[in-house]
Amino acid sequence: MTNELFELARRRRSCRKYTGEKIPDALVDEILKVALLAPSSWGGHPIEFVIVRDKAMIKKIARCKRMGAPPLLQADVAIVVMANTAGLELWIEDAAVASTYILLAAEQFNVGACWIHIRARAGQRLTADEEIRQLLGVPDNFSVLNVVALGGKGETKSARTEKDLPLQNVHRENFTSRGESAW
Ligand SMILES: Cc1cc2nc3c(=O)[nH]c(=O)nc-3n(C[C@H](O)[C@H](O)[C@H](O)COP(=O)(O)O)c2cc1C
Repeated sequence: MTNELFELARRRRSCRKYTGEKIPDALVDEILKVALLAPSSWGGHPIEFVIVRDKAMIKKIARCKRMGAPPLLQADVAIVVMANTAGLELWIEDAAVASTYILLAAEQFNVGACWIHIRARAGQRLTADEEIRQLLGVPDNFSVLNVVALGGKGETKSARTEKDLPLQNVHRENFTSRGESAW
């Protein structure tokens, strides 16, 4: 059975080293078009994206997170994923789905990508979320879930295979079963 999405998903790996090559604006827009089609609670499409190409600004964003943001320092593009969270119960889920679409779309175009988590992470003085919002002029009623770093792939990682699937996590009909045998 052909499963193009499985092929894409197994090739997608976090890429944390970038070549410095420019990702064309048109390609970034193609990736965003996919993210804008992501499902959201009540179909409300609450997720907003700030696309940052200015390298000095990307570095400042990287410094807003105390640990775990080095991939951003080399990235060609940073997509900051956020929502107006006022009264929005499921914004984290909505933003996570949109971010996942970005990761898959990037892989489709062979663009390196990595999720840099921001929500509930420390910044230098405030939270990482607050510091990024201050930098980018984002209103206080918004929250940032993450930043997706994009760039030409500067490292090669092997695609996952059927053997890598955590099949033990799948239960059939009730929790006490383990579903490996169905594969
Ligand atoms: C919710 C979430 C938060 C993550 N945060 C970070 C992060 O802050 N920095 C980072 O380098 N990678 C981050 N990652 C990437 C994971 O480390 C990565 O997806 C995982 O190790 C599996 O590797 P793979 O993406 O190559 O399959 C995050 C991924 C998710 C889904």
